[in-house]
Amino acid sequence: MQAHSFKVRVDAVRDEAHGVRSFVISRLDGLPFESYEPGAHIDVTSPSGVTRQYSLCGDPDCRDAHLFAVKKETRSRGGSRSLHDDVQIGTELSVGAPRNLFRLAEGARGHLLIGAGIGITPLLSMAYRLIRTNTPFELHYFARSAEHAAFLPLLTRAPFDRYVTLHFGIEPDALDAVLDACLADARQGTHAYTCGPVAFMDRVVAAGEARLPADAIHLERFAAQPLAPASDATLDSFDVQLASTGQTVRVDGKTSIVEALATIGIEVDTSCGEGVCGTCMVDVVSGEPEHRDHCLSKAERASNSVICCCVSRSRSPVLVLDL
Ligand code: FES
Repeated sequence: MQAHSFKVRVDAVRDEAHGVRSFVISRLDGLPFESYEPGAHIDVTSPSGVTRQYSLCGDPDCRDAHLFAVKKETRSRGGSRSLHDDVQIGTELSVGAPRNLFRLAEGARGHLLIGAGIGITPLLSMAYRLIRTNTPFELHYFARSAEHAAFLPLLTRAPFDRYVTLHFGIEPDALDAVLDACLADARQGTHAYTCGPVAFMDRVVAAGEARLPADAIHLERFAAQPLAPASDATLDSFDVQLASTGQTVRVDGKTSIVEALATIGIEVDTSCGEGVCGTCMVDVVSGEPEHRDHCLSKAERASNSVICCCVSRSRSPVLVLDL
């Protein structure tokens, strides 16, 4: 579990769309929240005890309160269902510090935000920041209908309305053409950001890669997909060495790096345990990871500079980690 969690109080609960509820929280100790960059998410432990990650979707420059929104998943194992059913104004929750794997690119010449459904949430915090810094951008929001679109009153009034284009009820057959039109004016140096259902993001990435370099397309996943299959180069067992002390531990085929490290007293913070949230990321000093997560960027994978220790493995007999 993540070590740095603290208690908050729920100050407001609002229905934002069909099956989507937002929660305003403030710290129980009365202190302001630490600042965060737009696109960040937090761990939220629901009254059921289940911890899940939710994007912060309010103004990132507001430190008195945080806002996050939750879609009630029909197959919820207690996270979203409990937040919808068991939380009222005054409920106390445990949350983690903001983490960010989905930042606005520095030096970008334009920003194109493309979200669907609950995927509007990290894009909303980006929109707040881009408006505040007077940075041109476009936000395209896809939803089944107006009733399924979260934060619609906010998005359709100033200052957001001039940046936002709504796309309701687009048929799957028509989606690629609509996405291509969204990207048509992207000039060199534009970065695109997408969040939403996996199939939607896959199509945004495909449309984006036809017009932009792959490293200019950013996405945020919150649902684990099936683990990437192990490649031929993946070793069944390997050693992990701590750069600080030289101590080594064996990771066998049935053990994760996190579990192996725990046997020698090294605790790595985890949250999702599924390669989605990035909580367990550790810098790699040497060796070649076999990346099996769903959260590192293409550039991070290619550089082999970090590894998600909850799911990833090794292609080299020894992996030296910055621990
Ligand atoms: S704990 Fe979430 S990616 Fe490893």
